[in-house]
Amino acid sequence: MDRLVMQKPAFFSRLIADLGYEDYLEIGLGEQQAGEFNTFSRVRCKRAYGVDSALHFKPHADAWPNLYYMKSDEFFKNHAEDKMFDMVFIDGNHKGDQVMQDFFNSNNHLKPGGCIIMHDVGPPVPNYASGDAYIAWMRLRNQGTFSANENIPFHFQSYQFKDSDDVVGIVCGGKSNQPSTPYPLTKKSFLDKREEILNLKYSYEEVLSILQENKK
Ligand SMILES: C[S@@+](CC[C@H](N)C(=O)[O-])C[C@H]1O[C@@H](n2cnc3c(N)ncnc32)[C@H](O)[C@@H]1O
Repeated sequence: MDRLVMQKPAFFSRLIADLGYEDYLEIGLGEQQAGEFNTFSRVRCKRAYGVDSALHFKPHADAWPNLYYMKSDEFFKNHAEDKMFDMVFIDGNHKGDQVMQDFFNSNNHLKPGGCIIMHDVGPPVPNYASGDAYIAWMRLRNQGTFSANENIPFHFQSYQFKDSDDVVGIVCGGKSNQPSTPYPLTKKSFLDKREEILNLKYSYEEVLSILQENKK
């Protein structure tokens, strides 16, 4: 599919189909427009779960099963139970510490061979108003392995949608690409080495092949 026409819902749905994923979780759904969430309701997956703390979509609750009207921390603490997900899209509170928290909680509920997708990790310019999810990205990249299982290395890659500043970071197990020298956690250092830090990919197939390797 052409990068021009494939945006997040199509990109996620195609990965889900190609990898045989069944359980999708989205943290932070945004507002509904004409009865649709921008991403959540357009992603095709056997089971989809959504979490959002804002009241703006509460009246639409009946339309969607598996929606949780609460902060992500509360969801993971009291409602995630033993649910396991193949793909988690983190797009809630964009403060660095909360993105880290969402990442670690998601990692505890990730099936083997699954992936965590993080939104807004790739600001292209200093004044880009996307929060500081990119700091969380750099911290995770520097760390390489995560507390839930120190022995499993993680691989980081990202995808920039064509003709847009929209970047999603994609993290899965296997093939560590931890930097030999940790990246300084500043916006300047990020912008200086943006492409390397993001490990930016420009084709769907490249992203897929890493995830397929991890799924074996
Ligand atoms: C950028 S929007 C999500 C956009 C959506 N994922 C999309 O693809 O269009 C961020 C959403 O995160 C929600 N949010 C903010 N903090 C949150 C938290 N701690 N837990 C859950 N949701 C949160 C907000 O209410 C808002 O609806």
